[in-house]
Amino acid sequence: MKVLVTGGLGFIGSNFIRQALKTRPSWSVVNLDLRTYAGNPASVADLPKSRHRWVKGDIRDRKAVDRAMKGCEKVVHFAAETHVDRSILDASAFLTTNIVGTQVLLDAALRHGVRRFLHVSTDEVYGSVPRGYSKEGDSLEPNSPYAASKAASDLLVRSYFVTHKAPVLTTRASNNYGPYQYPEKALPLMITNFMEDKPFPMYGDGRQVRDWLHVVDHARAILAVLEKGTLGEVYNIGGSYTCRNRELLERVLKLMGKDARLVKRVADRKGHDRRYALDCGKLLGLGFRHAYDFDAGLRETIAWYRANERWWRPLKNDGGYRSYYKTQYKRR
Ligand code: DAU
Repeated sequence: MKVLVTGGLGFIGSNFIRQALKTRPSWSVVNLDLRTYAGNPASVADLPKSRHRWVKGDIRDRKAVDRAMKGCEKVVHFAAETHVDRSILDASAFLTTNIVGTQVLLDAALRHGVRRFLHVSTDEVYGSVPRGYSKEGDSLEPNSPYAASKAASDLLVRSYFVTHKAPVLTTRASNNYGPYQYPEKALPLMITNFMEDKPFPMYGDGRQVRDWLHVVDHARAILAVLEKGTLGEVYNIGGSYTCRNRELLERVLKLMGKDARLVKRVADRKGHDRRYALDCGKLLGLGFRHAYDFDAGLRETIAWYRANERWWRPLKNDGGYRSYYKTQYKRR
């Protein structure tokens, strides 16, 4: 079976493809990816060429999408701009890629008679939840331009189900961690900075709560929803561990044998959400269970960054990465 994966050079997309090829022997994957700053061919270099093909192309480009989708039975849509801090600096690419790109894909899926289209989204669409757990039917109250662009794409997917009977499913996941994550996100930034004995910039008081989901568990949950989910429905995908950023920092410092002085408190992120928390009852109802315990997953992730400096070092040495950080720190 031929499956189109969008954004498969990114962190979650590449891990998903690896997991799918390992556990679904009948699959071959067309990986449509533009290779933006966060897409890395090195993340899929070890995958078998007979079952995985990277096609360079933009999800906003109807012709490129048509070529890639031809003959595909299923679509799993990861391609998106995802970094909150970048969306605060400039939201433009977030709106075109995340919203228009999703519309172009949905239209193509209708034309090509795709049987299942899974849209990968985020818990950030619910906004900050001071207490309790977000359910799939809760109102969407996105607070960052990134989250607003994802909420818009979620609503577009819903509208294609109602209007066109498109065979769609949406998943909303919490903070992912694991191998191949671009070192601008908190955890890989922390680990790689500590390896270099450089400080980690902790935003504000560090009491923001995040829920941590191993990327392989995320991939497993997406497969479960793709294969067993009800069309038109949304499924939350939460992790197996929730903590404040300060606690995460303490854990990582301890596991890496580093000093607390490497944590540098800086001005808070604008509009910083205090807490995300997901009710995952619907997903568990499909029979999904987490395979990763956070402690083991975190140790394994630290070990991966230690063993794979060749993967992340060029990313941190890149001119674009350096100038992004200069802009970030100028603001703080
Ligand atoms: O919740 C799911 C979302 O998780 C995904 O939809 C997003 O694509 C993904 O980026 C992530 O969003 P967050 O904003 O929670 O992740 P980030 O890694 O940027 O930050 C995690 C927490 O750490 C957050 O409270 C902000 C804080 N932080 C982050 C960075 C990059 C810092 O204190 N310092 C930093 O330098």
